[in-house]
Amino acid sequence: MKIGILTSGGDCAGLNAVIRAIGLSALNTIENIEIVGVEDGYGGLLEGRYMPMKRKNFENILNLGGTILGASRQPYKTISQPYKDGKTKLKIMCENYKKAGFDCLFTLGGAGTHRTAALLSSEGCNVIGLPKTIDNDIYGTETTFGFQTAVEVAADALNRLRTTSDSHGRVMFAEIMGNKTGWLTLHSAIAGGADIALLPEIPFSVDEVCRQVTRVLNSGKRSIIVAVAEGAAVDEEVSLKKSERVFIREERGETTVTTHLAEEVAARTGAAARTTVLGYIQRGGTPCAYDRVLCIRLGEYAVSLLRAGKFGVTAAVRGGEITYNALSEIAGRYKQVNPNGAQVAAAKNIGISFGNK
Ligand code: F6P
Repeated sequence: MKIGILTSGGDCAGLNAVIRAIGLSALNTIENIEIVGVEDGYGGLLEGRYMPMKRKNFENILNLGGTILGASRQPYKTISQPYKDGKTKLKIMCENYKKAGFDCLFTLGGAGTHRTAALLSSEGCNVIGLPKTIDNDIYGTETTFGFQTAVEVAADALNRLRTTSDSHGRVMFAEIMGNKTGWLTLHSAIAGGADIALLPEIPFSVDEVCRQVTRVLNSGKRSIIVAVAEGAAVDEEVSLKKSERVFIREERGETTVTTHLAEEVAARTGAAARTTVLGYIQRGGTPCAYDRVLCIRLGEYAVSLLRAGKFGVTAAVRGGEITYNALSEIAGRYKQVNPNGAQVAAAKNIGISFGNK
């Protein structure tokens, strides 16, 4: 039996831990198994770039950040477009899957990766997905690997910002990754003791953010932490497409939503404000112990799906247990924060404002 493993989309902590879990579990439980790493995600499948993997390749990578296979982004909308010799990327990837002699391809990735995996599966490739992303937005799974590590990093950053905020009496704006969903911002805001959390799912008003900042300052508290998801939008922007929003912001010379907001809040409230963009720090480095355990459970489970001949699925967490979803069921869907859900309610009840009325 021959299997391929690829890591696609934005990287995160834990990819190597999953690669290792798949590799060791396959070597230990399946006779005559041949394992091949596909380089740079779907890019490598498209170009037929592979790396044979032996037991040695899975040693000492449990704690290693990034991905030993490399990753790339292949935007979903380009997958079904003509690419070379009149063939689409999808067609070429399927041909290469067959040429390579794979019996199964493990695709480690986020929502976009799963969408492409669903297409590969519908074209007859045996695919098993694994849910990776710091955004935690894959539909049908309670959590994704890489998320908890990113929460640790972002929450730690908020804690560090709090002490300097307290020293200077400044409002600290921290921009946290997450374009479509605010899970990372919500969890790190709760864990990091933020005062205000702005999420893509809850449109905010600048007036309300100013009102909250003034309220906290008037209460005598010197430190104020505002956790802003990179995809957070003011209420008047909500009806706009992302490209329109970006265009308007670029026209105004703004690089991120947070920079403009911090300037506005400082101008309107008279408070001193500073901005920190956490950026790729949230994606790099060693996976936390929780993620390592999750990665091993997911990777080992994915190999059990292979042994059972269960393809066209992705591993998932439900009720704390590892299970699977059909790729066709989850493709193109996102798991979003429920603005009326228990987590947001709990955050509000401990005093976190979401910048809305
Ligand atoms: O999907 C993970 C993520 O880190 C998002 O939170 C972020 O918006 C995006 O990737 C950044 O993408 P890129 O790596 O292409 O800059």
